[in-house]
Amino acid sequence: MSTNRHILDAIGNTPCVELRHVVPDGCARVFVKLEGLNPTGSYKDRMAVSIIEEAEKRGDLKPGMTIVEATGGSTGSSLAFICAIKGYDFTVVSSNAFAEEKLQTMAAYGATVDIVSSPTGKITPELIPSMRVRAKELSQNGDCYYTDQFSNPDVLVGYGSMGRELLGQIPEGIDAFCGAVGGAGMVLGVAKVLKSKNQNCRITVLEPASAPAITKGHGGPHSVEGIGIGFLPPLLDKTLYDDARAVEEAEGRRMSRRLAKEEGVLAGTSTGLNVVAAIELAKELGPGKIVATVACDSGLKIRRIVLGDEM
Ligand SMILES: Cc1ncc(COP(=O)(O)O)c(C=O)c1O
Repeated sequence: MSTNRHILDAIGNTPCVELRHVVPDGCARVFVKLEGLNPTGSYKDRMAVSIIEEAEKRGDLKPGMTIVEATGGSTGSSLAFICAIKGYDFTVVSSNAFAEEKLQTMAAYGATVDIVSSPTGKITPELIPSMRVRAKELSQNGDCYYTDQFSNPDVLVGYGSMGRELLGQIPEGIDAFCGAVGGAGMVLGVAKVLKSKNQNCRITVLEPASAPAITKGHGGPHSVEGIGIGFLPPLLDKTLYDDARAVEEAEGRRMSRRLAKEEGVLAGTSTGLNVVAAIELAKELGPGKIVATVACDSGLKIRRIVLGDEM
């Protein structure tokens, strides 16, 4: 067993498993990358490193500066983790619409958490834009670097490793890959790598049916953390995906419970959406083909949703 000498080396190289129970007979095989095994329990650790280290390389981020970001708490937990390691102060704008566990995680890593209130407790189309305005405002006080995850192409760099790992873990070849989008960094970062190996690999981006900004051009209130940001993600490059689909939130939530009970994969609702769509694609592609998707997180930071308190 190799020894990780540095905590940053604990990011990535996550397992990729085949789903054995929730995929009906007569379908393509479905593989899921278990990103909950990253240090903060989410794939966002990959982008938090790249967003910080690319800025350091350019000289935009220097020791002593404060990092500022608006986030539901997955990116925020990952950035708080990297800031703790590298010694940066971190001010994070989040909201009561996201799990208390995430807010507590960011604080535990030493972040200063600033809350924008959502009166309904839902993720509305106005919420993320108002969190971004607040983050921008805060970043103008003092020597700050606003990582601006929704518009920052440095996030794509971090997800290249996930694509390369998938190619190594599924040597038979990947016919389709799908993922739900927030900022769209994960799907597009992986898509770049998969398409460079096989131009015909089909890439499908997903969103909650109640917030169909990509498929119908408007947002809406929902409770799927991390996705459905209410506007078209600026990083969503149309040349890198083949189609977009909306998935019912309730179906995603049901699937995330089935994944825990039937496959032993504990993950949040966005993962449920990913697997619902992966199975849909697997039915369309049929036997002999392979669909890959991602278990975005460990589910532990969104326990109340996985367990259904929010239903
Ligand atoms: C739990 C979860 N799933 C999915 C996503 C979407 O990832 P991306 O922003 O790379 O599109 C996020 C992003 O915050 C997330 O937190």
